[in-house]
Amino acid sequence: MAFILFLCFLYIQLAVVITQVTWENCGSDLNDIKLLNLTVNPHPIVAPGPVSINITIYTNQNLTSPLKAILSLRKKTFIGYVTVPCFTIGSCIYNDLCTLCSQCNCPMKAGEHTIDLPITIDSQSWMLAGSYQAQIDLETSPKQKGCAKINNISIKTNK
Ligand SMILES: *[C@@H]1O[C@H](CO)[C@@H](O)[C@H](O)[C@H]1NC(C)=O
Ligand SMILES: *[C@@H]1O[C@H](CO)[C@@H](O)[C@H](O)[C@H]1NC(C)=O
Ligand SMILES: *[C@@H]1O[C@H](CO)[C@@H](O)[C@H](O)[C@H]1NC(C)=O
Ligand SMILES: *[C@@H]1O[C@H](CO)[C@@H](O)[C@H](O)[C@H]1NC(C)=O
Repeated sequence: MAFILFLCFLYIQLAVVITQVTWENCGSDLNDIKLLNLTVNPHPIVAPGPVSINITIYTNQNLTSPLKAILSLRKKTFIGYVTVPCFTIGSCIYNDLCTLCSQCNCPMKAGEHTIDLPITIDSQSWMLAGSYQAQIDLETSPKQKGCAKINNISIKTNK
């Protein structure tokens, strides 16, 4: 019996580790920018190392630059989710994603766009390891908006 429970436990652990991140749109249903798909490779993310984030978005309008992004990253701890300040990875404000992302093809035309964002986490810190959730708020100056929540982001360190 104990052994079977142990196997179940092992299975749950494995199932948690292999899942992809989960995501949802947030904010208003009337938002102009919607997330259609998001995958993180590898997942769990291994730090330090490269990560590729594949994002498909749909926008019902031509987006005007600047495309401001507010990222809020929270780490799961024993007292609940705690906001991670803006370091290598963290809760940062990007005044214009267009200037950071050559593949974004700004100004973005109305329609579907798939963007592959290659990121390198160079921090060696073992403290990065853990489970995270993120929220990204997008806004252009004429108030075109988007909001997405990403759950179950998992980071391992290769130590
Ligand atoms: C999302 O992207 C992944 C990887 O690119 C792909 O396998 C999957 O089919 C996509 N899902 C949808 C709903 O487009
Ligand atoms: C986007 O801009 C193009 C010209 O660059 C225009 O033809 C099109 O109608 C615009 N679409 C929307 C939804 O405003
Ligand atoms: C990621 O997005 C790019 C488009 O920039 C696409 O060509 C590629 O197949 C995607 N990769 C995965 C793993 O989904
Ligand atoms: C994913 O995140 C949600 C919300 O934070 C949580 O309820 C759920 O248990 C998580 N799923 C896994 C597989 O960790």
